[in-house]
Amino acid sequence: MADARRNKSGQARSAGDPGGISQIFQFKLVLLGEAAVGKSSLVLRFVKGHYYEHQESTIGAAFLTQSVNLDNATIKFEIWDTAGQERYHSLAPMYYRGAQASIVVYDVTSAESFERAKSWVRELQRQAAPNIVIALAGNKADLANHRQVETEEGAKYANENGLIFMETSAKTAQNVIDIFTAVARKLPRSTGPADRKGADVIHMAGTAEEQKKKKCC
Ligand code: GTP
Ligand code: MG
Repeated sequence: MADARRNKSGQARSAGDPGGISQIFQFKLVLLGEAAVGKSSLVLRFVKGHYYEHQESTIGAAFLTQSVNLDNATIKFEIWDTAGQERYHSLAPMYYRGAQASIVVYDVTSAESFERAKSWVRELQRQAAPNIVIALAGNKADLANHRQVETEEGAKYANENGLIFMETSAKTAQNVIDIFTAVARKLPRSTGPADRKGADVIHMAGTAEEQKKKKCC
């Protein structure tokens, strides 16, 4: 598990971050999963560090951004948090089309939500970008006493389908920054014009020292 924390501007920082940022890479990430599995709660925990016992059900989708500092670069996620209610299903392609990453969420206390997560994975494999990075999150790990999906089941399915897998808890923050960081690590960071399907390099920031020199004289 990565030892991760937030910096002064609220960015999620990973252990080993040297501080001198050279490039910013931007990726579109979409959260999918059955209603009430905790998609919005995971995003709010990741982006704002907050958790609400009575999180409202998402209507349509919500958009948030958050960055992770990794290997001397900043990975900026443009996050689409979709609504899990079935009546919004037809909107989903609008959000996963063009996404470089997805976190498919289920609730470890609901076997049905695990089956729904598998069908989201199949839909992504069929219809999303072929190189999309997919992570599977077994959320509400704090309710392990009521679990209907064993850790091994989730891990086995993820392994068979080449997915990142973690059990998470938006409530306790377990593995929340870690799963986004694991996605960030797996995303290709290409800077050449030949591969525009990879990251968008949006800014050359330079180290603090370099920035100072640029302003000077
Ligand atoms: P939709 O927007 O309807 O698709 O739901 P969602 O997947 O965004 O779920 P949401 O984040 O709204 O969470 C649903 C309920 O589960 C809320 O009451 C949350 O407080 C609760 N919840 C979310 N994550 C966790 C968790 O990790 N542990 C526990 N115990 N409850 C959680
Ligand atoms: Mg929601």
